[in-house]
Amino acid sequence: MAYVLEDWEQHYADGRGLRPLGDCERALLAEHVPAPEGGGRALDVGCGTGELAAHLVGLGYAVDGVDFAASALERARAEHGRIEGVRWLRLDIERDDPMYLGEDGYDLITLRLMYPFLGNRTRVLHALGERLRPGGALVVITLMVEQIPATRRAIALDEEEIGLLTAGWETAERWAADDLAVLVLRGPCHSDTRAVEKDPPTGHALTGAVVVVTDDAGRVLLGRSRRNMWELPAGKTSGSESFEEAAVRELAEETGLTAGTADATVVTMLSDDSHGVPRLTAVIRVSAWTGTLANPEARLFDRWEWHDLHALACLGEVFAPAAQALNAIWPGVIPDLPAVHAYPTAATQPPVPGEPAKAVRLRRQMADAVIAAGWAPSPAVQDALRTVPRHRFAPEKDLATAYDDDLAIVTRWDGSGRATSSVSAAWLQADMIEKLRLEPGAAVLEVGSGGYNAELIAHVVGEGGQVVTIDIDPYVVHRTRRFTAEAGSGRVLALRGDGALGAPARHVPRGRATRLSTAW
Ligand SMILES: C[S@@+](CC[C@H](N)C(=O)[O-])C[C@H]1O[C@@H](n2cnc3c(N)ncnc32)[C@H](O)[C@@H]1O
Repeated sequence: MAYVLEDWEQHYADGRGLRPLGDCERALLAEHVPAPEGGGRALDVGCGTGELAAHLVGLGYAVDGVDFAASALERARAEHGRIEGVRWLRLDIERDDPMYLGEDGYDLITLRLMYPFLGNRTRVLHALGERLRPGGALVVITLMVEQIPATRRAIALDEEEIGLLTAGWETAERWAADDLAVLVLRGPCHSDTRAVEKDPPTGHALTGAVVVVTDDAGRVLLGRSRRNMWELPAGKTSGSESFEEAAVRELAEETGLTAGTADATVVTMLSDDSHGVPRLTAVIRVSAWTGTLANPEARLFDRWEWHDLHALACLGEVFAPAAQALNAIWPGVIPDLPAVHAYPTAATQPPVPGEPAKAVRLRRQMADAVIAAGWAPSPAVQDALRTVPRHRFAPEKDLATAYDDDLAIVTRWDGSGRATSSVSAAWLQADMIEKLRLEPGAAVLEVGSGGYNAELIAHVVGEGGQVVTIDIDPYVVHRTRRFTAEAGSGRVLALRGDGALGAPARHVPRGRATRLSTAW
């Protein structure tokens, strides 16, 4: 049985208890994660009634105790209210914007008897890893399956799950505290994503579809397969089925999510081979779906999880066509993949909505900072800064980096390590757009692409306007096309071209009053 928020609320409201912190656990914590000299900062995730959080104060930490059950925090406050140095915060670590967590990170993050309850374990662990201070540790204390009856499987981990949990950390130490496993992880995310193959296929050729779906926070769905690799929903075409039909069938069979073929677009065809057998894979972007995520093919998959795009580069082993497909949808999210023959299609993909609450908040902050500094006096540019989702044009970056108002994000380097393309700092973009004094309906040529700036301009010129953006680098053009397809207005046309040779005349709109402004 899966434990959901309502179960926990009831659990605490009924006055039911939790397993007390054992002497062995206390000794291991004191020995392996003592507070730094002068005190440290700790985060206890899923703190329940707060015994561990209160104990960590005794070890010298200032503690944030976090739980999504209000009834748990009520009891924690009642039982430990006299202890100074704990903030009790109500937060769903999987779903809520973690705005109240310590901005400057933690020396220690603990998850005691709570990790198995997480749906998106890899994402949560990665996100928590990003909050660790240098030298900090993340401690998971968990029951193991062999210690509990099979009916309570959901509250414990098996060895494969422990393997996945500890993969990608610089060090992972493990101790036993009575029947509990205590894992101390340090140095997060050093596992580069690698494209790996399965066993040799049979037959002369393989044709199939891989499916890329995102949730309402813009996160992508990947399954942990029984072959111990991450995979996208995917499968071979059957009979005379189209790639789109195969995609939505496989999506339903493997994940329980339902989509129509009208919401499935072939974005790219990948051509490679698997163990010498030619393989043709359609990368299908599904823009809308319904249903509830499940794991109907439990013999093939351990679990399905939603993943942040900026963390796709450190997932460990990913089935090769899935890794290539992710990079085809969001060029640059997985660096250093082996070369593959990729044939992007000209099909029009509808923009796909979805972003986390944190992106909305950070975008507002960024816009406020740029406006307060005087870089965006006009309402149109202010509105563009508040609206266009900058992070979706740099999906390999975490949200804080994408929305830093003073930071340029380099997206392309040449062979000598020189930056050749970037998303400029937001204040600079605002200032340049202001200087163009654009009217609604204007046609604008932008030289040097990326996507975000062109979409800012498209927002300013409005529905009657158009932006043509050119770049000399085909990769930058490809990236721009993909990101504007994913998150754009439909009014930005990205073309390969040399700005020194002027505007590509045939693409400048005719038959209406246009002003051609050359950006930079
Ligand atoms: C078994 S209790 C463990 C409580 C405490 N860590 C302990 O060891 O006594 C699991 C706790 O995780 C909390 N929890 C589960 N999912 C959560 C989530 N997504 N965000 C925050 N808390 C969560 C539950 O409300 C519950 O209090």
